[in-house]
Amino acid sequence: MNRGRLRNAELEHKYVGESPIRTLFFLFEEQKLRVLLAFLFFTIKHSPTWVMPLLTANTIDVIASHKSLSELFINIAILTLVTLQNWPMNLLYVKFQSRAIREVENRLRSALVERMQQLTMGFYLKSNVGVLQTKVVRDVENIEQMVRNLSDGGSTAVNGIIGAIVITAIKVPIFLPFFLLLAPAIAVFISKLRFRLRSRNEEFRGEIEVMSARVNEMTSLMPITRAHGLEQSALQTMYDSFGNVKRAGFRLDIFNAKFGALSWVTFQMANVLCLAVASYCAIKGKFGVTIGDVVLLTAFFGQLIGSVILLSSLMPVIAKGFASIRSLGEVLESPDIEENADKPAIEEVVGAVEFDHVTFKYPLGNRDAINNFSVSVKPGDMIALVGPSGSGKSTLINLVIGFLRPQIGSISIDGHDLSKFDLRTFRRFISVVPQESVLFEGSVRDNVTYGLGSVTDKRLTNALRAANALDFVNELPEGIDTLVGERGARISGGQKQRLAIARALIRNPRILILDEATSSLDSQTESAIQTALESLMQNRTTFVVAHRLSTVQKADLILVLDKGELIECGNHKELVGAGGLYQRLYEAQSFSTDVQEK
Ligand SMILES: Nc1ncnc2c1ncn2[C@@H]1O[C@H](COP(=O)(O)OP(=O)(O)O)[C@@H](O)[C@H]1O
Ligand SMILES: [Mg+2]
Repeated sequence: MNRGRLRNAELEHKYVGESPIRTLFFLFEEQKLRVLLAFLFFTIKHSPTWVMPLLTANTIDVIASHKSLSELFINIAILTLVTLQNWPMNLLYVKFQSRAIREVENRLRSALVERMQQLTMGFYLKSNVGVLQTKVVRDVENIEQMVRNLSDGGSTAVNGIIGAIVITAIKVPIFLPFFLLLAPAIAVFISKLRFRLRSRNEEFRGEIEVMSARVNEMTSLMPITRAHGLEQSALQTMYDSFGNVKRAGFRLDIFNAKFGALSWVTFQMANVLCLAVASYCAIKGKFGVTIGDVVLLTAFFGQLIGSVILLSSLMPVIAKGFASIRSLGEVLESPDIEENADKPAIEEVVGAVEFDHVTFKYPLGNRDAINNFSVSVKPGDMIALVGPSGSGKSTLINLVIGFLRPQIGSISIDGHDLSKFDLRTFRRFISVVPQESVLFEGSVRDNVTYGLGSVTDKRLTNALRAANALDFVNELPEGIDTLVGERGARISGGQKQRLAIARALIRNPRILILDEATSSLDSQTESAIQTALESLMQNRTTFVVAHRLSTVQKADLILVLDKGELIECGNHKELVGAGGLYQRLYEAQSFSTDVQEK
């Protein structure tokens, strides 16, 4: 683990998405030997492609000039040998190539997730979760594919070009200029055709993507569409998209037919031309061209053009791979990391929280989300944050957790300025229940004890009971071992929330944070949990955001926020008679059923 971390730290340091080639070299630096061996074995395994025409030409010359039979046998023996070695050599090639690529793939993914664990939560506020997922899965795969294609295709092409040029230069040097001028020209012409084909292909693929997005949209909008009787307009959108697919598909097919055949014809005509010139020379006895040489030249000319085309066909894969290298750079090079390394750990938390003139503004926000906020919280106090939506309650809580850092002012825990400590060590003393809790694929037990290692059944049931979750968990098919999460048992939002509360409680935190944690519960369930929560809030500092004021009446300190400003502060008794925002909110809610049960 430690070694891996050091290695990936170096990777992050040297990774430069904007210079993909340099980054690629750097990534494969440790794999140098494997890459070299892979290329060596590839060259050996691939030798039949240039030895074959040479030996075939030799054999034909043996026949044509009635040479001895033994010379024929030698040629045939070499051919057999060269062919048979392909099997073991290919195995060796793949072994070294795959090892090198897989190592780099693994290292990139590890570096990415490691980095993601270090990035600030602020980074996640502005990044799309799907995009990050794509980076780990697809972008790394694109890079892997690019290297694999470069390795297979690039080696084939390089070998093909070098083989064709070297042997032609030795056997029929007079044809070399003919090759060197004509082959690239034809190859470039054919790749141009292919390129135009590709842009048609992309147009078509674009329409397919739009179509699949529309289908997705249609199915997810189904309840709304049907509830409003909008079937016809939903269908029309689909028909339009299908029509576009039809037209783009037809254009593509015709284009394929025209240009696909044209490039084939060009390629074949070039070979015919080479055959004609070589044969003419052989017949006229010019330049000492033999019958065998005619075979040799035609084969190598084809190979040369083929290799250059192959090289150019690698361009899109390379472009895609380079784009992915850049995309990984957005994570690996992001400066937005929590600077925890080398900072001292917080070993103990008593629970005093001090806000000292804290001001925070979101990078994209148009005003301060928290403005000049100062409050002292005693250990064990229950603090309620109250205020209209958008007043800054969640922001304040994220500042306490250290997910966000104040631009002005400071937050201290037991007198320690948070910015000077390793936040990860501090967060071991916090439990958070957010408004929308997340359950992962796993049992009730896994979800509640997440990250704690093994926990006794007793401790688990106690936490579940305290969160008022034990009854419904016992009714699940397999009790605490029932699978929950996306594909697990169907549990309601309220039940999910109670599991999240149990998850927070089992950690026995010094600081408990509930950000509208009970607002998705019905008032009956909420009041049932309320009693449990209240006993748990004793002896620990608790921050509660709740929009039902019944929940906050028992708070030691109620902080009323409006537009990021602290406008009132005190306990329920003091505030309810103060005639301010709290009183207005309270009076508005007194008439709702929520408070009547109190
Ligand atoms: N990621 C963000 N980027 C920019 N502005 C934000 C972001 N999150 C919240 N805000 C703004 O900050 C203010 C406070 O938001 P928030 O703390 O979520 O309020 P509350 O929890 O009280 O409803 C609001 O004006 C909101 O629009
Ligand atoms: Mg909020």
